[in-house]
Amino acid sequence: MEQVFQAFLLLLLYQSLLVSAQSFYRDFSSLQSLTESWQNKPPSWVGSDPCGRGWEGIECTNSRVTSILLASMNLVGKLSSDIQLLSELDTLDLSYNKGLTGTIPQEIGNLRKLKTLLLVGCSFSGSIPASIGSLQQLDFLALNYNQFSGNIPPTVGNLTNIIWLDLSDNQLEGPIPISKAGVLGLEKLLTAKHFHLGNNRLSGGIPAQLFSSNMSLIHVLLNNNQLNGSIPNTIGRVNSLQAVRFDGNQFSGSVPSTISNLRNLGDLYLSNNKLNGSLPDLTGMNLLAYVDLSNNTFDSSVIPSWASNLSLMTTLMLENTNLQGQIPVSLFNQPSLESVVLKGNQLNGTLDIGNANSNRLQLIDLENNTITDFTQKNMNYKVSVVLVRNRICLEAEASTKRYCQEPTSSSLYSTQPNNCSPLPCSSGQISSPNCQCSYPYTGTLFSRVISFSDLGNASYYKELEQSLVTAFQSQNLPVDSVSLSNPFRNPSTDYLQLSLKVFPSSSDRFNRTGVSNIAFVISSQLLNFPNFFLPYFFIGDVYGFDAAYGSKKSSHTGLIVGVVVAVVILLVLVLLAVIYAVRQRKRVKRSAELNPFVNWELNKNSGKAPQLKGARWFSLEDLKKYTNNFSEDNTVGSGGYGKVYRAVLPTGEQVAIKRAAKESMQGSGEFKTEIELLSRVHHKNLVSLAGFCFDKGEQMLVYEYIPNGTLMDSLSGKSEIKMDWMRRLKVAQGAARGLTYLHELADPPIIHRDIKSSNILLDERLNAKVADFGLSKLLVDTERGHVTTQVKGTMGYLDPEYYMTQQLTEKSDVYSFGVLMLELVTARRPIEKGKYIVREVQNVMDTSKELFNLHSIIDPFINKVTPPHGLEKFVALAMRCVREYAAQRPSMAEVVKEIENIMELAGLNPTSESDPTTEEIDVEARGGKLRHPYDHQEGFSYSGPFPSTKVEPQ
Ligand SMILES: *[C@@H]1O[C@H](CO)[C@@H](O)[C@H](O)[C@H]1NC(C)=O
Ligand SMILES: *[C@@H]1O[C@H](CO)[C@@H](O)[C@H](O)[C@H]1NC(C)=O
Ligand SMILES: *[C@@H]1O[C@H](CO)[C@@H](O)[C@H](O)[C@H]1NC(C)=O
Ligand SMILES: *[C@@H]1O[C@H](CO)[C@@H](O)[C@H](O)[C@H]1NC(C)=O
Ligand SMILES: *[C@@H]1O[C@H](CO)[C@@H](O)[C@H](O)[C@H]1NC(C)=O
Repeated sequence: MEQVFQAFLLLLLYQSLLVSAQSFYRDFSSLQSLTESWQNKPPSWVGSDPCGRGWEGIECTNSRVTSILLASMNLVGKLSSDIQLLSELDTLDLSYNKGLTGTIPQEIGNLRKLKTLLLVGCSFSGSIPASIGSLQQLDFLALNYNQFSGNIPPTVGNLTNIIWLDLSDNQLEGPIPISKAGVLGLEKLLTAKHFHLGNNRLSGGIPAQLFSSNMSLIHVLLNNNQLNGSIPNTIGRVNSLQAVRFDGNQFSGSVPSTISNLRNLGDLYLSNNKLNGSLPDLTGMNLLAYVDLSNNTFDSSVIPSWASNLSLMTTLMLENTNLQGQIPVSLFNQPSLESVVLKGNQLNGTLDIGNANSNRLQLIDLENNTITDFTQKNMNYKVSVVLVRNRICLEAEASTKRYCQEPTSSSLYSTQPNNCSPLPCSSGQISSPNCQCSYPYTGTLFSRVISFSDLGNASYYKELEQSLVTAFQSQNLPVDSVSLSNPFRNPSTDYLQLSLKVFPSSSDRFNRTGVSNIAFVISSQLLNFPNFFLPYFFIGDVYGFDAAYGSKKSSHTGLIVGVVVAVVILLVLVLLAVIYAVRQRKRVKRSAELNPFVNWELNKNSGKAPQLKGARWFSLEDLKKYTNNFSEDNTVGSGGYGKVYRAVLPTGEQVAIKRAAKESMQGSGEFKTEIELLSRVHHKNLVSLAGFCFDKGEQMLVYEYIPNGTLMDSLSGKSEIKMDWMRRLKVAQGAARGLTYLHELADPPIIHRDIKSSNILLDERLNAKVADFGLSKLLVDTERGHVTTQVKGTMGYLDPEYYMTQQLTEKSDVYSFGVLMLELVTARRPIEKGKYIVREVQNVMDTSKELFNLHSIIDPFINKVTPPHGLEKFVALAMRCVREYAAQRPSMAEVVKEIENIMELAGLNPTSESDPTTEEIDVEARGGKLRHPYDHQEGFSYSGPFPSTKVEPQ
């Protein structure tokens, strides 16, 4: 009996071992085949047990894979049908992997236990498979920010547990599906709180049966589609609604009166449609914070009384809505009001804003009305009043009035240090709000419905920061602090965008687990964000994981297998290494005559080789790897010379790799000279060379990566980095110091030859760095102090004397620098709409008047924060730099001295590294959205004999 029992037990044990081994291998092999063709898988995925410890991004229950979190891993590949094999999966997050392409396989419908599916911000395309409807457990579906096309599959109506449905920012078309012929539609999703379908190409009307009183919807976003017809009155039944965005469609008819039943509504966006009839009556909707009814064809009316009676309203937008008559003073005296925009109406009479100056009001924009008078003309308003294109601004000296000038908008915010002084950080690292240098995880936060309009009000961002930190820490994530910067309203989507940086706490860098968990917490809405920012979404950037990282942890059961495999691999590696070494030796011999660097490499210790200070040699193979085979995604600029790629070295250092196109390659001797030259140049205001590649017929220069783009991008508004006068002085000083170094301290001296705003880069603290010595010439030969050479440079900056005589001196750089100074003052391109900046300034300038009479051409932003002390002296200096005869121009050293005098006048300490008074405008570039510094496309580079004698636009 006992024996039988033992046998039975053994059998049982054997059975259970067999079962677990089977499922165990099933998930290993299915993960393996799923990710077979993927690039950039976590290096910790070794061994054969995904459920053993150490497989980052994978979580298991009972030896089955239940969760895959791989957001922001820079994965490249496709989602294969093998995904269906992971049959116990309940959470899949592959968000922010731009390299994931192709369609979602039909087989995803077999993941019957899936509850959360996040594929945000990838590059998936094709239709959303109808099989998605069989994911009965699904409660969170986010497919936004991809390239899905085709119709919304009607089967989504089968997802009866769904709470979050986000299909926004794709190219979906066709109707909003409702039940038909036995197939369920969206109106059956009674648990859903979020329908986010904006920024697609949906068409047709909103079916009346979409809305019912059984629903739990709080956000319905249909903005920016091609929907038409009228808004159904059934919307008034969904009284849980908090935000409605129907803007940017072709809705017509009148707004149903039932809308006023929505007593919980905070945000109502109906702008940019063809709505008519009378303005909707919003009386009693006391939670409304943001109302935008602009650009519709409502019947003409006076300003409705509800507009003066909503105590939580921050923003009232009634642009171009056929309003007429007087504006009641009560409109401006509501406690929460931040902006009132009533542009393009026929409002008349006297504008009386009462004591609006004492509340939160920031903007009253009445452009293009028929206002004739303004009772409070006091200039010192906090609120900015815009009356451009009104009768009042047609009066004689009206143009001097602030309210008659075009508004300039800017919103500056960036998280400030917490009572500590930021340290200078090594390249790539950033100082956290707690003043620790580390590598933050970065990305962009988007608010889809923003309930405020005062983007400069720090208290909003402080609240956001607080909720982010609280959420991360309550999830036990290794987060020290977060910073926000560059609030920016995207005019095409009306989303608020903000750069987010999340700083690590336990070391200077996150590992993959850290990043994917942070990304998951944000994208699965586990944050308790303040209402004014909801709903939001996030797009994470690629993170520079340390390539050296990845402690291999093979599983207990896999140990022996692991050792055997390791030994075999080792043997193979040794063999490969031997073969490689032999071949390499042969190749070195073969190419020694062709490649001057080979000799350097070989003779490194002989003393004869040129000195390469700090510049490293990279093989083509290496750079291929770091740039993901020079993929388009890593391109940050391009121009006549070739392309520039951003890359992360295994050390974590970020670099910009400038790869010469075939046509623009130099002879190897010249290239060598250039590298020698560049590697010798070290100055904090010059972009330094990290290395080079001269391999297999390629010429590449590897520079330190400068994060904040070019001065040109900043001045033109492209990069969202706005600089006040102080900061511009510092940039001028920095660039001038860099140039002085080239002229006077480099040995031999170097003439840059292509100084222009797109060659001045801004680092993370907005210090100027001069870039691109591509055209530089050593000032070698000559006692005469010039070099005769073919004319090269950029139109608008080019020294006229140089192109006439073809004789290059340092004073040619001084000329270009003068043009650059004028650009700093005016934010205009040197040649813009046929006008040459030097001549423009000469024409308007009157030294007997205030600001030299340059009001009309000074960049209005300069005046915004502080008055531009010393601006006259600065312009005078610029004009000396652009004198016709080189001999009359100052040297760069004199220019530096003069700029420093001006800085002192302006109250800046020219020797301090970063001045506290300007620190607050250290806004940073929005992650990844910038065109890169090394891009030359904008500057029309001229090379060759000059076509005519005048610098004229084409
Ligand atoms: C819808 O859900 C039911 C279960 O409730 C399921 O039997 C059916 O196959 C699903 N339909 C589709 C089209 O997925
Ligand atoms: C109204 O339309 C004009 C012209 O198309 C556009 O510039 C403006 O931004 C629109 N206003 C709003 C509030 O959407
Ligand atoms: C001014 O507003 C009217 C509507 O009142 C509009 O038709 C016109 O285009 C606007 N003009 C400008 C210059 O914005
Ligand atoms: C303002 O416009 C209204 C309606 O167009 C008109 O009745 C009224 O007389 C105007 N008032 C003034 C002061 O022009
Ligand atoms: C990742 O970092 C966290 C916290 O910093 C640490 O607890 C964890 O062990 C790390 N994971 C790996 C695989 O190194």
